[in-house]
Amino acid sequence: MKTKADTLILFGATGDLSQRMLLPSLCALDADNLLAEDLRIVGTARSELDDAAFRNFAREAIETYLPADRRGSMAEFLNRLSYSQLDVTTTEGYSDLADKVGQNREVAIFLSTAPSLFEPTIKGLAAHGLADNNSRICLEKPLGTDLESSCAINDAVAGAFSEDRTFRIDHYLGKETVQNLIALRFANILFEPLWNSQHIDHIQITVAETVGLESRVDFYDSAGALRDMVQNHMLQLLALVAMEPPSSFDAGAVRDEKVKVLRALRKLDAKESVTGQYRGGASGGEIVPGYDEELGRDSDTETFVALKGHIDNWRWQGVPFYMRTGKRLAERVTEIIVHFRCVPHSIFPGAKLHPNKLVIGIQPEENITLSMMAKVPGIEQEGMTLREVPLNIAMPDAFTGKHKRIAYERLLLDLIGGDQTLFVRRDEVEAQWHWVDDIRATWEAETNQPKTYNAGSWGPSAAIALAERDGVSWHE
Ligand code: BG6
Repeated sequence: MKTKADTLILFGATGDLSQRMLLPSLCALDADNLLAEDLRIVGTARSELDDAAFRNFAREAIETYLPADRRGSMAEFLNRLSYSQLDVTTTEGYSDLADKVGQNREVAIFLSTAPSLFEPTIKGLAAHGLADNNSRICLEKPLGTDLESSCAINDAVAGAFSEDRTFRIDHYLGKETVQNLIALRFANILFEPLWNSQHIDHIQITVAETVGLESRVDFYDSAGALRDMVQNHMLQLLALVAMEPPSSFDAGAVRDEKVKVLRALRKLDAKESVTGQYRGGASGGEIVPGYDEELGRDSDTETFVALKGHIDNWRWQGVPFYMRTGKRLAERVTEIIVHFRCVPHSIFPGAKLHPNKLVIGIQPEENITLSMMAKVPGIEQEGMTLREVPLNIAMPDAFTGKHKRIAYERLLLDLIGGDQTLFVRRDEVEAQWHWVDDIRATWEAETNQPKTYNAGSWGPSAAIALAERDGVSWHE
């Protein structure tokens, strides 16, 4: 389905995501002339606003969250916007929205509301002719809290929208550097012959944050790091790193390969995961309270998780995938590290040869570094002196003049254009939940309690031990 939508409806238009990401992204796309001239954007929410007040709201959001040099002519963008007040749980309001949208339109609907509102919203849309073959729907996480609830959401959506009209967001897939992973692997001959258990010792994926609970106390406490970050973003990164080469860069081929990896994830052993919860400390240059103090009560929710995963297929047999993510860690960094094996035989007696390491920096630094062994310049009589040196590509330097885009810009453009390649298919989400549910069941069986770690550290010492037991150090 590559028909372009000419109307975009934003549910939850006055919410946090809309304010921080969606409206600024749409304005930036408009400034770069990437939106069709006739694209109209209809915001809906419970707040009592008229078109003018919604445009003001959007202007403020854009001025707050989009750099001035990316705004273009904001007035033209604001003219695309209109507003329809709607309480999705009642039947009133939908006919006003349907009138605003009009007949013979191709509609993209973005639900940036709580998942508990998806079902009534879809019912309301269907009852007013807005869920037909001329509309597509886009869903934001969290899509459930486990496989069962995720299936219930997916079933409710599937009752009105076929899979080729359902766009599930994982905003990591909208990040330029995440897409670059696909380019790195499949636009270069260099890596693919080495990309397997014969040449790779292990892979690390780190998604570390310095922020704490922010304003999402209740949501986060009922989710925890495993469901908030591993189930979606980290498993998508893992799938892109580990998938077989797809036959083409299209939605079917790429997602077919990703889902095979997700389904091949081995059930974790109890000893292959570590959870943690932060205590007060210094993070991001400030003194910060502990999780329970921020929350205002005791809690068993994990704010950190480290896992040792395995993919049971030919390519990855025996290659551990160490993953860790957490809040209030020492640095904000997302990176993937591919540790190659040592050379099979060293001809340099006395020299310590470090295995090659490919570091793919996703954020905040966007760079790719390959560490290699090289000769230290000089004349030695007792054999060469060798040292590890980095071969470094800093993406911003390689592509000067290209501005950094918000992940949602790519995703909104693809939603409007009908391209599902960077959206998550139902079978992927379900395979992700299946693996995560098994981990949670193990934790429950073992009555696992998160270990404490100080804010500003790299997590509990047990996470270091998880890797060190195998002779592996986390990349820092
Ligand atoms: C969200 C999580 O999906 O991703 C947040 O709910 C997390 O807890 C965020 O902070 C991280 O996204 P990014 O783009 O800042 O790495």
